[in-house]
Amino acid sequence: MFSGRALRFFAPMEGITSPPVRELFAARGGVDVVCTEFVRVTSDPLSPKVLARHMGQAPPAKLSVQVMGNDLTQMGDAARLVTKAGADIVDLNLGCPAPKAVRKGVGSAMLKSPTLCEKVISVMREATHLPLSAKMRAGYDDSSQVLEIASALAEAGIDFLTIHPRRRVDFYGGVADWRIIRLLVSRLPIPVIGNGDIWYADDALRIRRETGCAGVMLGRGALRNPFIFRQIEALERGEPCPEVDGAMLYAHLVDLAELFRERLPESAKTGLLKEQVRYVGRAVRDGGSFMKAAFLTQSSGALLEVARERLVDLPAEALDLGISGPRLERSGSAIAVEGARPSREACADESFSAV
Ligand SMILES: Cc1cc2nc3c(=O)[nH]c(=O)nc-3n(C[C@H](O)[C@H](O)[C@H](O)COP(=O)(O)O)c2cc1C
Repeated sequence: MFSGRALRFFAPMEGITSPPVRELFAARGGVDVVCTEFVRVTSDPLSPKVLARHMGQAPPAKLSVQVMGNDLTQMGDAARLVTKAGADIVDLNLGCPAPKAVRKGVGSAMLKSPTLCEKVISVMREATHLPLSAKMRAGYDDSSQVLEIASALAEAGIDFLTIHPRRRVDFYGGVADWRIIRLLVSRLPIPVIGNGDIWYADDALRIRRETGCAGVMLGRGALRNPFIFRQIEALERGEPCPEVDGAMLYAHLVDLAELFRERLPESAKTGLLKEQVRYVGRAVRDGGSFMKAAFLTQSSGALLEVARERLVDLPAEALDLGISGPRLERSGSAIAVEGARPSREACADESFSAV
């Protein structure tokens, strides 16, 4: 998988990376792997019907199916089921910060026990011949065990590791500490995928330069700029980087609405479109006016009408979707970095000091 150039992953995002959204992003180009949101595995067998809702190839990208759970028997069976269902990669969630997941001892809560992480990967390793990966945060409330956990996972048989270098207690606050990625790259015998705060195409090249990671994973940065993977691909090839203008953003929303049309009731469709607008809207340099107007609409038709009026004529300069830009924080908006927010260095020191 990692014999050629660095791979580009479209990150798993609960409630967002449904099959049609993955399809659209993959079709835009520049994406090597798309990921399902986590599929929850409890102490009951994973239902093939539940799994089927998450499946769905997105050619030409490969499909990574993520499972989240800590029951050894069920996680082994889940890996088997996912393999049979047609996944290309099986991934274990070791990062979900949601209180509900933590209360059940899954996702980021598993980072408190390297032994448990290792055991779960061991049973999954026995259950699948597919590439097996884990996606982890830097730790639960400190990062001191990040290397120990990552090494245990490698020892237990993962083929590659994705690291989002924030702790669970950070949720999405502050900035991702890329130095933790560099640490793992330098010490692990397996490829490491770097994730966290890649907001502009240029950031994807910078994270590789600064950490040596074997690939990049983008979540919110791709929602904010649906054409970012193509921009990254162009930069990597030394080709001119495609500009993104308002008509392209509008067309993206229309394409999404069309993909949702057949599969969802109107209310769900409008909600999901608004979720996308929450990210795309932050790239529009209009003080949040498009976003506010779109949120007030009651139907997907009305939302698209607002998008048409406000976006179609915007030139690239009216959008913050160039190759590079200011360091952004959780919102994906430059507005968020104005004022007294902590700097990249301050946040990095806080989480890195324990490593
Ligand atoms: C709305 C939302 C849902 C997410 N759901 C998942 C998930 O199901 N599984 C997972 O491993 N990470 C999930 N994440 C984390 C992302 O995959 C990614 O690690 C994180 O957003 C940092 O990357 P970014 O800065 O490129 O967004 C989610 C993030 C967001 C914003």
